[in-house]
Amino acid sequence: MGFKIDLSGKVAIVTGGGRGIGRAIALGLAGAGASVVIAGRTAEQLSEAAEQIRATGAKALPVPTDLTDPQQIEQLAAKTVETFGRIDILVNNAARSFLRSLLDLREDGWDKVFNTNVKAVWLLSRAVARQMIEQKGGRIINITTVGAEKAELGMAAYGCSKAALKMLTRCMAREWAPFGIQVNAVGPGLTRTAFSQPIWSNPDIAKHVTSLLPMGRIAEPEEIVPAVLFLASDGASYMTGQTIYVDGGALTT
Ligand SMILES: NC(=O)c1ccc[n+]([C@@H]2O[C@H](COP(=O)([O-])OP(=O)(O)OC[C@H]3O[C@@H](n4cnc5c(N)ncnc54)[C@H](OP(=O)(O)O)[C@@H]3O)[C@@H](O)[C@H]2O)c1
Repeated sequence: MGFKIDLSGKVAIVTGGGRGIGRAIALGLAGAGASVVIAGRTAEQLSEAAEQIRATGAKALPVPTDLTDPQQIEQLAAKTVETFGRIDILVNNAARSFLRSLLDLREDGWDKVFNTNVKAVWLLSRAVARQMIEQKGGRIINITTVGAEKAELGMAAYGCSKAALKMLTRCMAREWAPFGIQVNAVGPGLTRTAFSQPIWSNPDIAKHVTSLLPMGRIAEPEEIVPAVLFLASDGASYMTGQTIYVDGGALTT
């Protein structure tokens, strides 16, 4: 079976689309023909990303959103439908983390991580799924991490939240398959963004970390995009509930 990635006429939402991996995904979806709604808290980054998307000839709508606010989540889904009339693809990419040992992490830190990385994904996916059910189908792609499988020092809340997201991916996949909604995840390894800057910008830490990676280097944000495009495309017509790791072999160690 041949397939090409053609998302023309499709409407996608990318959370955290203003920078980093999310911006690369938004640009990738736009390049494949989709209209893209990007959401995040920092309005300037969203406007800048929207300009970049429009420069490719695609439609972009920046929607400043704090995903820890359930009302703003509902508004994001509603604004997308109001502007573009439908939602075909949702990429739950936004996330946060604190580098703290379990002994030092504060309770509100744990809650912030889980509210953003798990609860917001459930609430936004539910709002979007209601629209997708009316449309008789759609694709949801969650961005997880190799840290969902490996216990990384100082990253417990984040790793636990992403392990929960992996299971949420399976639960949504199972419950919503009868409606034609397919739910999968992409798990990057260490990728060069603001999120991981404390690691790659310190030469000693970077040298140590890359020496542990089979491919000997970290990923660039654009290298995460093709897996997302595949999961959004006709080529993934029989896939649901899966996580594809794009990690330079990190999980082989
Ligand atoms: N970089 C890595 O090494 C790496 C590795 C594995 C997995 N990942 C995953 O890849 C995804 C993207 O990470 P990244 O590296 O691109 O990080 P990033 O540059 O820090 O981007 C995170 C994005 O999430 C948004 N966000 C955070 N909290 C939010 C909230 N409450 N409401 C709305 N948006 C919010 C941020 O926007 P605002 O701050 O403007 O709200 C930002 O756009 C995350 O799911 C992360 O877990 C990253």
